[in-house]
This record gives sequence, C-alpha cells and structure tokens, in this order.
Amino acid sequence: MGNVCVKHKVHRVSCNLQRMQTDGKLFVGRMFSVQDSLPKLPVPPLEQTLQKYLRSVRPLLTDEEYVNTQKVVEDFKRDPGPKLQSLLEKRAQKETNWLSDWWTNTAYLEFRQPVTVNVSPGVVFPKQNYTDKEGQLRFTAKLISGLLDYKTMIDKQTLPVEKMGKQPLCMMQYYKILCGCRIPGKKKDSWVCYPPDEANPPKHFVVAHNNAFFFLEAYGSNNQALSTDQLYEQLKYIVYQSKAPEVPIGLLTTENRNKWAKSYELLLKDKETKTSLSIIQRSICLICIDNKLPDSAPGEEESTAAKMMLHGGGSQFNSANRWCDKTLQFIVGKNGVCGLNYEHTTAEGPPIISIVDHILDYCGKNEETSTPSPGIKAPRKLNFNLKFPELKENIEEAVDNIDSLVKDVDLNVFKFTEYGKNFPKSQKLSPDSYLQMAFQLAYYRLYSKPCATYETASLRQFQLGRTDTIRSCSMESLEFSKGMMDSTLSKQKKAELLRKAVAEHKNYVAEAIKGQGIDRHLLGLKLIALQNNMKVPALHMDMAYSLSSHHNISTSQVPAKHEACLVFGPTVPDGYGVCYNPQEKQIIFGVSAFNCCPETESRKFIDSIRQSLYEMKTVLEGSVQSKL
Ligand code: COA
Repeated sequence: MGNVCVKHKVHRVSCNLQRMQTDGKLFVGRMFSVQDSLPKLPVPPLEQTLQKYLRSVRPLLTDEEYVNTQKVVEDFKRDPGPKLQSLLEKRAQKETNWLSDWWTNTAYLEFRQPVTVNVSPGVVFPKQNYTDKEGQLRFTAKLISGLLDYKTMIDKQTLPVEKMGKQPLCMMQYYKILCGCRIPGKKKDSWVCYPPDEANPPKHFVVAHNNAFFFLEAYGSNNQALSTDQLYEQLKYIVYQSKAPEVPIGLLTTENRNKWAKSYELLLKDKETKTSLSIIQRSICLICIDNKLPDSAPGEEESTAAKMMLHGGGSQFNSANRWCDKTLQFIVGKNGVCGLNYEHTTAEGPPIISIVDHILDYCGKNEETSTPSPGIKAPRKLNFNLKFPELKENIEEAVDNIDSLVKDVDLNVFKFTEYGKNFPKSQKLSPDSYLQMAFQLAYYRLYSKPCATYETASLRQFQLGRTDTIRSCSMESLEFSKGMMDSTLSKQKKAELLRKAVAEHKNYVAEAIKGQGIDRHLLGLKLIALQNNMKVPALHMDMAYSLSSHHNISTSQVPAKHEACLVFGPTVPDGYGVCYNPQEKQIIFGVSAFNCCPETESRKFIDSIRQSLYEMKTVLEGSVQSKL
C-alpha cells in the first residue's frame, strides 16, 4: 500500500531487524535455508532513476510544468544527486538492507494518523456456515487450532521457502507475524517482537469479547497445544464471564498515535494495567469474538463483513472489541462473518494470506485430530484500572473519533464473475498489468484525466526486502485510456493500445521487483541528505514529486486460494484504495473511498472498473493479435 509518511529524522526501530538477520544461530531451519544467500537490495544507478522518474511524471504534467521539472532533474543530476548517490551506496555496503529500517520508520512508526483504516488492512474470509453462538465458538476453536498448526511450522522453521518464479523470497516477515506488537510513542511508535527461539516466546492468545480481554493459554503443561474441543470449552467460559459490554478501552488503540501515546503513558502508571498491556503485547495474536453485526441490504453482506474487518463498525458495533496495535487480530463475528485485521509494520498481505489459506483449509476438514492437552488453566480476565479521569475522557473522545472515521469510510467488495485471470492469460497478457490498465481506464472515464497510481511491488527477492512502488500510470496507459474513449478508433487499434500499455506496465513491474524501482531510491536519496544534515533536495520539493506521490489510486494485488479479499482505506483524502484477488475464473475487489470527498465514490469506481473489464475483453476478442 502507498502508505508513506516521510518525516525528516531517522531513528532505529526498537527491535533491531538487522541483528535478527545476521545472528546465524537463529536461522537453522528449512524456512531460512537460503536467507543468507539472498542478494542485497541494490541502489539503482542515479541516471536510470532520473530518466524513469521523468517518464513517470510526464502524463501528470502540462508541457510547461514538464519543462520545469526537466530542469529540476538536470540540476539535481549535477548537484547534490551524485554526492547523495555515493553516500547511499556506502550505506548499502554497510547494512544488510539499506532501506528496511528507514522504511519501517517512515512508512509506519512515524505515521501519526490512526492505524485503523489508514494503515491496517482487513481481510474478509468467505462466509462460514454457522448461525448461532455455539457454531461461532466452535469455528473460533477450529480457527485457533489451524493457526497453531501453522505456527508450529514457523517455530520449527519448517515452512518451505516461498518463490516468485524461480527466485526464492525472504521469509523474515513470517518470523514476526505471530509475536509482534506496535507500541504507541509521542512522536514515534516502537515495535516489539518476541520471536519463537528467544526467551519467553508467546504461548498464549488474548481473546476479546464484549470489549473485555482474556488471557488464554494455547498450550497445556506438557507444551502440547490445546485440542479444538478444549479451546471451545475455554471460549465458552470466556463468553460466560463477559456477558455485558465493558468500558471500551480498546478504542484508545484506534486513536491518532500521539493521543494514544498520552493515554498509554497514563495506563502504564498502574501496575496491574501495565501487566495487562504486557500480556497483550506478548501474546501470539488477538482472537476477537464479535457480538453484533449491522443489518445489510441484500447483496451488501460481503461489504458489511469487510467493514467489520477494517474498522469494526464503530463504537456501537465491534470497534472496541479490538486491540489495533497487535500485529494480527482474527475476528469471528455473527452469522459466519469472519476474517482478520493486521497491523502493517512488519508484514505485507501475502504472508498473512498464506496463513489464511492454511487456516481455511484446516477448518474445511471435518475431523478432530488433536488430543486433549493435560494441565490446562482457566482463561483469566485482564484488568485495566482507569485511575485517571483523563483516561475516561480520552475514551469518550475515542468513541466520537472512531464513529466519525467509520462514517467517513465508503467501502465495497465486488466480485467480478464474467471472467478471471485466465482470460488475459489466454490473450498472452499479464493479468496483473491488464487489471492495472482497467483501473487506469476506469479513472479516466470518470475524471477525464490520469492520476498518480500506486501498486505494491514486492522486494522480497532481497534480504529483509519489503516493497517498492509500481507507478502504473504511464504515457502508454494514458494513450490507451484516451483511445478506449474515442468512438472513432477501431477495436484493432484499441487492442493495440491496450497491449502496448500492458507491456509497458509489465516491464515496470519486472524492473521494480529486481530492485530497480524509483520511489524507494528517491526516498533513500532524500533521507541520506537529511541524515547528513543537508537540505531536502529541490527535486523532492518540486510539484511533480508531490503530484506523483499523491496516489489517487492506491492498489495491491493479494492473491488467495480461497475467496478471501483484502481491504484497506485510500491513502489520500480524494483517493481510492483498491485491493484485488485475481482467481482463475473471477476477480474479487475491495474498493474504498472517503465520504468526505464529494468526487469519489466506491460504487461509482466499481461500476467503471466493471465497464472497463467488459470493454477490454470486447476489443481483444474483436481484434487480431500481431505476430510480431
Ligand atoms: N501470458 C500468459 N500468462 C502470463 C503472462 C503472459 N504474457 N504474464 C503473466 N502470466 C501469468 C503468470 O505466469 C502467472 O501465472 P500463474 O497464475 O500460473 O502464477 C499469472 O499470469 C500471474 O502473473 P501476473 O499477473 O503478471 O502477476 P504476478 O503474479 O507476476 O504479480 C505483482 C505481479 C506486481 C503483483 C507481484 O510481482 C508483486 O510484486 N506483488 C506484491 C504483492 C504485495 O506485496 N502486496 C502487498 C499487499 S499489502
């Protein structure tokens, strides 16, 4: 996601990821077998990045603006570009990954807006087959068993190394998903991690029900995971112990980070509350058992479910039944509605979806295979003593703030069932690039102009790699969009424009995932300047830079085997957030916008995407593909 808030200082993350990477003892299992031999993230050549940058901003600028930006780039090329490039190359020699700590800080820990909606994505699972409380708790127990099954592979480092094509990928994100937590700070957050092979790794869950939080041990006295039946009994006990809604303390975690940090400091002053906070932070993850579900109009059920996963529906529904700092929160709601929410600091969607696919496979199996574990203890309610009146006021304020935020989010899930990724493949086109062109056309149809578009490119081919940006808007995509809207053009010509635009995008993708993207490089040049007490370069102050970083469309492909869909909020007030799961015969989209912006509307954008997908298929089928 294009969630980049670049501030001027660079700090280290509290959990030093580079140390974890280089401590050879940690990584002995299959999962990390190629970790040390993965290449280091390169610093692309300066000239190459600047040329690509100019190409990428061209469709967004007038001729006059473009001439001005060309001059800014020429100046940067002379000074201070080469000096910054050399400093960055030196940093790259020293660090395992020159970007990773910077990225964690600038994109996540320094970001001050609420993580809810703005940072943390939701994932909606396919609707499950239960309708009453017993069914809900039985499913939750099975989900936990499936998760523990997956966790064993992480703990023993037996997960197979993932690959992209033939390239093995960095597996570090998996290592941090089931043991991490974000901690609010007044200017910058920190992040803690209790990995499986260090002292006191997490062995418990925190279960949220009716806004109360419970400590639930995952393993019995012999270190054996609780059986699904035992988990069910424990969950029943928790529900029995929390019949009425508690003070919505969890809402504090949905607040602006500076505000939350102030409340957090007050909470720490009470010993028992401090222990409760530590229990949450040191847990495997949260399991949220939701009680309420808003009514949905027919056909809107999936969108309602998506909202429960993204923000919980507000103070009247489930937003307080969360702890949004925790890396993973599985959410099991009423009537088969379930999914998760994850805090983004440590991982992208694909590792999360890999866990989801495993859990859903596991839950699909009927038999109970696990045996009861001895010596289990009853779950324990966590106490929070709100000693300071200010805390109660802050919670009241958090109620108002989450309700406004929820009201502002316009979110819809849309299943396009006419065709899936098999169609573009049959046309010898990359499905991902094809879909990106559908977004470009959809936007152009609505607004008669192109816009800066973000797509996530994975950098996991490199040690500790995270993401770069694919700038999906290009001169070719603009020509294609204009051409499609031109009724005088033949299908043949339109299809040619589409193929050209797809090829250009695919080429950008191929380079970005090889570490030759431009956005993280440009960010690095800026941050190295600041680190060396130099000014922010004029290139980064130029309107072309801010315009091309204002992502009116922010997108991510997150494929899943199951009919799961990831959803996230737009990254700018007047933008769209679009996540998509291209399956063979259908494509699932989660599309968001903000209601406060009169120009954007998720339904309107969805309709336009649908129309683009129909029209693109029609022109391809009505044209002959050149043999060249
Ligand atoms: N003709 C026929 N088939 C083609 C083709 C062509 N010209 N080009 C690609 N394909 C096939 C591929 O072989 C692949 O086949 P598969 O279904 O058997 O795996 C399939 O089409 C999909 O390829 P494509 O659509 O090109 O996408 P990709 O899988 O290469 O992914 C990105 C592209 C950019 C999404 C991926 O590289 C990436 O970086 N993902 C990041 C995801 C992420 O981190 N998201 C963050 C969420 S928070």
